[in-house]
Amino acid sequence: MNKKKVRIYGAGGHSQVIKEVMELNNFEVTDIFDDKPKGVHHAVKNVTVGAKENLNNFPHSGDPLIVAIGINAQRAEIAKSLQCQFEKAIHHSAIISKTSKIGEGTVVFAGAIIQSNTKIGKHVIINTGASIDHDNIIGDYAHVSPKAALCGHVEVGEGTHIGVGAVVIPKVKIGKWCTIGAGTIVLKDIPDYSTVVGNPGKIIKTI
Ligand SMILES: CC(C)(COP(=O)(O)OP(=O)(O)OC[C@H]1O[C@@H](n2cnc3c(N)ncnc32)[C@H](O)[C@@H]1OP(=O)(O)O)[C@@H](O)C(=O)NCCC(=O)NCCS
Repeated sequence: MNKKKVRIYGAGGHSQVIKEVMELNNFEVTDIFDDKPKGVHHAVKNVTVGAKENLNNFPHSGDPLIVAIGINAQRAEIAKSLQCQFEKAIHHSAIISKTSKIGEGTVVFAGAIIQSNTKIGKHVIINTGASIDHDNIIGDYAHVSPKAALCGHVEVGEGTHIGVGAVVIPKVKIGKWCTIGAGTIVLKDIPDYSTVVGNPGKIIKTI
């Protein structure tokens, strides 16, 4: 059987995980791009220069692509600048309700659970073992870190990072471009651009 092809933008550790997911899903990774192609990349041997140096020279058309950059703002910037078709990376052990929707370019790693009627935006990271319950709305370019748990009817704004092991109780709305610290327990709505830590979660910074 002919393998489907995919390209990956980003050559760090996050890229390594995505590459493995795609290979398990019977894709051939044809190219890996990075804006620092000569940097130290443990995941890959041959790295091609990315789009930042010369956007017009970048091969926008061709095999679909996944932006494998862990920092949300950088992933958003690159994804918006590319005129590519985007692929998803979904590990076979993730449990995803058939009533949920997942946007283009989004990755869902091993053991993650996405329950009924949840909408995940584009270029989102649902990391290893994250649990996202029913009726959630996760904005574009967000990242839900490993083992974070979002209860039902939670909303997470564009670009927001939910730290490792954080917990969000039902019906809470977290704004855009927030950072929820590792292990934080979020009990109430959080305004845009806030950094929240602790139990109960308290805002320590607003950008
Ligand atoms: C929230 C976070 C971004 C804050 O980083 P920062 O802006 O550099 O803040 P600082 O480290 O200066 O910490 C500021 C204060 O918050 C406290 N704090 C930071 N993170 C905290 C956390 N997760 N829980 C409780 N308190 C925390 C610090 O102890 C410090 O308290 P102090 O002022 O009393 O000394 C970071 O600590 C964090 O938790 N990041 C999440 C990482 C993660 O989950 N990555 C997943 C990768 S897959």
